[in-house]
Amino acid sequence: MSHTSELISTDIDLYLKTHQEKSLLRFITCGSVDDGKSTLIGRMLYESHMLLDDQLSLLESDSKKLGTQGSEIDFALLVDGLAAEREQGITIDVAYRFFSTDKRKYIVADTPGHEEYTRNMATGASTADIAIILVDAQHGILTQTRRHSFITSMVGVKKVLLAVNKLDLVNYSEEVYDKIVKEYNKFASNALDIEEITPIPISALMGDNVVNKSTNTPWYKGQTIMQYLENVEISNKNLDKPFRIPVQWVNRPSSDFRGFSGLIASGSIRVGDKVKIIPGGQSSTIETIITGDREVIKASAGESITITLDDQIDVSRGDILVDKKNPCSEADQFQTRILWMHDDPMMPGRQYLFKSNTQSALLTLGKLKHRIDVNTLDNLPAKILEMNEIGICNISLDRQIAFDSYDNNQTMGGFILIDKFSNNTIGMGLIDFALRRSDNIHWQKMDISKESRAQQKLQIPKLIWFTGLSGSGKSSIANILEKKLHSLGKHTITLDGDNIRHGINRDLGFNEADRVENIRRVGEIAKLMLEGGLICIASFISPFESERHMARTLVSENEFIEVFVDTPLHVCEKRDVKGLYAKARSGEIPNFTGISSPFEEPLNPEIRIDTTVTSAEDAANQIIEYFSK
Ligand code: ADX
Repeated sequence: MSHTSELISTDIDLYLKTHQEKSLLRFITCGSVDDGKSTLIGRMLYESHMLLDDQLSLLESDSKKLGTQGSEIDFALLVDGLAAEREQGITIDVAYRFFSTDKRKYIVADTPGHEEYTRNMATGASTADIAIILVDAQHGILTQTRRHSFITSMVGVKKVLLAVNKLDLVNYSEEVYDKIVKEYNKFASNALDIEEITPIPISALMGDNVVNKSTNTPWYKGQTIMQYLENVEISNKNLDKPFRIPVQWVNRPSSDFRGFSGLIASGSIRVGDKVKIIPGGQSSTIETIITGDREVIKASAGESITITLDDQIDVSRGDILVDKKNPCSEADQFQTRILWMHDDPMMPGRQYLFKSNTQSALLTLGKLKHRIDVNTLDNLPAKILEMNEIGICNISLDRQIAFDSYDNNQTMGGFILIDKFSNNTIGMGLIDFALRRSDNIHWQKMDISKESRAQQKLQIPKLIWFTGLSGSGKSSIANILEKKLHSLGKHTITLDGDNIRHGINRDLGFNEADRVENIRRVGEIAKLMLEGGLICIASFISPFESERHMARTLVSENEFIEVFVDTPLHVCEKRDVKGLYAKARSGEIPNFTGISSPFEEPLNPEIRIDTTVTSAEDAANQIIEYFSK
């Protein structure tokens, strides 16, 4: 996916230059902890005396030792080094290793095997031509094997080398090997989209069938791992696709030069070709193509280039230039496959940041259709996605983006999800297709505007959002506030948690997902009330920062007034007007806010009311004062 290639693109460029004439194979090694990933990579490097390419490898000293004369001690050292470095490398997603033989150059994505690092594995796989799936012959196919295989296939890897490892520990048994291969084939043919599975019996530790053919497996007639890697056909997945280049930056060294730079995501381009700029859809023609410091007439997928156009059309960072005859589509609603990678589950109705190539948008998760059991590949019903789960979900964005489906174009169809507050990557996804309705539903413009409706009422629309624990006094203050506004001649409406839950939200309960949806709907209703020119008072526990923030972004910046009714839990509990706290304590009500469900205090409310010192009457006056300022 694009963010990984960006991360290491300078290293890769340098590396590719040093071995220009050789073909490049990118592969990933997947396996559970202790399946032997490091031993395998170590063994390949050791026996074939392949140099880990100097400056590029983090293992410089070990590689030098190998380049001279390997001994068994060096081999052990190398494996230890690889393992240690990889486990430290968990913070940088994936450890990429570069090496070359006389024939080919290789980039290996080496990822930790622990389940919590599945996301690193997914990142590594998204740029791989083939995947080596390691299976410990003693344990056979594990859940982790299936998960890795599924993700590998999901991100478009078509060739799998099934390395059945540690064969020395099962007496080089053909029977054990056959059984594992059979089971894997059955699993893969059921639902994985893999074109070719090549099983090889090995012992990475003893060196059987890694580089040299083993005499311990006379029953095996196929290739060794290294033979496979040297000979497997590589098809550049992106080369024969239509031309796409996301613009990473605009170059303007002088007033008469405007170059657009980026990495070609797919296809190729020639001087004179017609392109379309998305969004907007304006057309232009390629005037020059520059790679490095040379002008060329043609460039292809994987190359970083700067182009100039033959007119003055405005192109900005984040735009995408595409083949005019074969453009991509634009949409804002999609069906997607998402791999969730965060401890806090993914919830419908919640908002996340979406990033695809150079494009960003605000994403709201729509319906979760189902999740996929990686063991059985069954579709299971699901309301939320937990860490490491894969789900089929509808998403909607706050703006149109340029895309191709992942099946058609792996770069254009991939995206990542980012947490709005921490900026961490929390999920990755693939676009299956755009939802039609985004094409068929347009925004109908009305002649009477929010402003004219408000003007008629001689007021400025506001959304006064009360948040706080149950029993904190939100509704009492809201009630007094509305009476005061009413007597001042203002046109108001109050939305109250308990009341709304009797009507439009009667289908919602109090688990996290339902609360997210509760506030999403209330936010939308409040927005409509403001469209009507009203002053809307909303009174909901609204325990999550994320949804309060969402409500805020639904209306204009100065329209939203967040009022935190700050009553300590023990005070609410002592009052217990509705007797709910007693029930919650006795376990009768599950997920009760403050007791068995969290309340995230607002960080920067416009108004904070300490009800231990302020009366409801004074609180209402304080709010009126605030917004008549
Ligand atoms: S929110 O968390 O989704 O914002 P909302 O404000 O709509 O909650 O509803 C809260 C009201 O529902 C409370 O004032 C209380 O009367 C009632 N209620 C019933 N069960 C719960 C519960 N588990 N947690 C909190 N409030 C509950």
